[in-house]
Parts: sequence; C-alpha cells; structure tokens
Amino acid sequence: MKNKAGIIGVGSQVPEERVDNYYFEHIMDTSDEWITTRTGIKERRRIAEGEASSDLAFNAAKKAIESSRIKPEELDMIIVSTITPDSSLPSVSCILQDKLGAVNAAAFDLSAACSGFVYGLTVATQFIENGMYENILVVGVETLSTITNYEDRKTAVLFGDGAGAAVVGRVEEGGIRSTYIGADGSGRDYLQISAGGSRMPASHESVDKNLHKVTMSGSNVFKFAVRKMEEASIIAIEKAGLAPEDINFYVPHQANIRIIEASAKRLGLDMEKVYVNIDRYGNMSSASIPVAMDEAYREGKIKKGDNVVIVGFGGGLTWGSAVINWSL
Ligand code: UT7
Repeated sequence: MKNKAGIIGVGSQVPEERVDNYYFEHIMDTSDEWITTRTGIKERRRIAEGEASSDLAFNAAKKAIESSRIKPEELDMIIVSTITPDSSLPSVSCILQDKLGAVNAAAFDLSAACSGFVYGLTVATQFIENGMYENILVVGVETLSTITNYEDRKTAVLFGDGAGAAVVGRVEEGGIRSTYIGADGSGRDYLQISAGGSRMPASHESVDKNLHKVTMSGSNVFKFAVRKMEEASIIAIEKAGLAPEDINFYVPHQANIRIIEASAKRLGLDMEKVYVNIDRYGNMSSASIPVAMDEAYREGKIKKGDNVVIVGFGGGLTWGSAVINWSL
C-alpha cells in the first residue's frame, strides 16, 4: 500500500531590514499610492550586506526541523527551490546539508521560479509515497534584492527577500492529497535574466547594461496568472476528490493583491479564507508560499484537518498547486 505524505514541520525567516514604498519615491518616479493600489505592497525585506540565500534558508530550515521534532540526521533529502542561489556552484541545498548536519541527506536545488516550492513539494511527495524516503526538507528561498534593477520602476518595487521551509514525512491521517505542476516555455521571455549563464556569461558590458537583473512583461504575466491560479487550483481540488466548497484555507503565491483577489473570487472563496502577506513582504518568488503557509499555521488560521490549497505561478512560465489536509 502507498504511504501517506504530509507536512510535519514548517518554518520561515525574513531579513530584518524593511524597505517601505517611500524609499522608492526618493530614487525613482513612483509613489506609495501607485504601489499600494496597483500591487498591495507596503514594504518588503532586504538582506544585509554579506548575507546570502543559504543564511535565510538555514534559519527557516532549522525552525521547520524543530517543529517536525526530527533530527537533521533523519533527513533523507533536501530540495531547495531558488532562482537566487549563493552562487551557481555549489547548490544552496549542499550548503544547507552541511550547516544543518543532515549527513544522510541527498541534496539538490531546483529552478521553477515562483512555482518552485510546489514543484519541490511534489517531488518530495513521490519519494515519501513510494517508500524510498521518510523525511524530506523542502525550502523556498530568494534574495531577489540581488537581481532587482533599482532603476526600473516596473520591477524594482515588487520584490523582496525571504525563506520558507517544510519537512515532508509519513503521516497516518490526512496529508498531501494532490499535487499538480505544469509549464509553458513559450512564455519564457515574459520574465527573465539575460546574463550570467552560458548564453551570455558575465562581462563588463553585461554588468554595465544591467543584464544580470530581472526584467518582466508585467501585464502578460498578470493575465496568465489570474487564469492559471484558478485553473491549477481547480485541478488540484478535483484530483483530491474535493470541491471548492470543501476548501478551508487558500495560500496563494503573493505577486499582486489584485491577482490574489481575482483568483479567490473566481474560486468563490471569501477573502477571510485567503492568506495575504504581500503588504509586508512583496513578492518573494519561491519563498512566498512557504512563508505564508508557516505564518498562517502559527497564527492559527490553518488547523489540523483543514483542507488547504497552495497555488503558485511564475517565470518559465511555470505553475503548481496542491491540496494539503493539514496534519500539524
Ligand atoms: O511572481 C510572478 C511574477 N510576477 C507577477 O506576477 C507580476 C504580474 N504583474 C503585475 O503584478 C502587474 O502587471 C504590475 C504590478 C507589474 C504592473 O501593474 P499594471 O497595472 O499591469 O501596470 P502596467 O505595467 O500596465 O503599467 C501601467 C502604467 C505604465 O505607465 P504608462 O505607460 O501607462 O504611462 C507604467 O509605466 O503604470 C506605470 N508604472 C508605474 N508607475 C508608477 C509601472 N510601474 C510603476 C511604478 N510607479 N512603480
């Protein structure tokens, strides 16, 4: 018989420094009013100089492991989703494996942008269900301030830094009832970083032209997001054998309050059942969902037995959703 996989521990960490909208008023042609009404963001967090993704990931992971009551040595695998690793080699997951003392864990990073945490959760679920592994750490971490172009008002105001983590393990009751992931690479140009890879290695010119920073076609991503958030949620709900009215809580990717509200409305969900922290953190890409999930749990908004939908979309283009019958 198939094992049941569930989330047995959660944790998150954001940097201390807060960057509010007024900061941007001083450096570019924008306003708190525009940012608040068009995105829902009031402030975001930024790492300190010398800090990197693995530092945030380590603190989030430690909290998740503590809350799961397992020891780091009991981890069989570490999956880190990030588009902002400390460096392209080694992986953030290997740095974590060493720092955590998770000596028995295999470790790799995955790249699926804002959907990455759901991709990681999906992979982890397979290994638990098929019996190969017992405990897997899944982390979403981003330091997007390091790839943000502070001269581009279309993107600069949107992004923030943070990390969220979950331990996926065997559970007797409830657990991850369904996962659904997908991609459409024909939309790859909508969100991209041109330089720093094999196509355009770093050069003086690439640095001078800001090509190591993210660019985005906001309105194209917006339209895709509203459609996909609903579609992917419905598919995960159906795969779980449930209907939208069975959903107790909704934890969407935090890219824009208008996207969150539109998708909740399409699903017939009251905003009271929807977790929102975009006002405090902005868009943290693959960290958004696990941070939101951790906060919702700690605030008592997600309780044991609740059916929780998590759903994300992002660069690639990619998307992912899951229904979790909360077992913590
Ligand atoms: O995590 C996954 C990836 N990201 C997303 O999901 C983001 C999805 N997209 C969005 O959230 C929205 O498209 C944005 C928030 C990025 C932009 O909002 P929008 O309502 O789609 O604005 P827009 O791009 O259509 O621009 C409208 C106007 C433009 O001015 P003009 O050309 O009409 O004169 C922009 O230049 O707003 C201007 N604008 C700004 N004005 C003040 C764009 N950014 C700013 C800004 N401050 N920061």
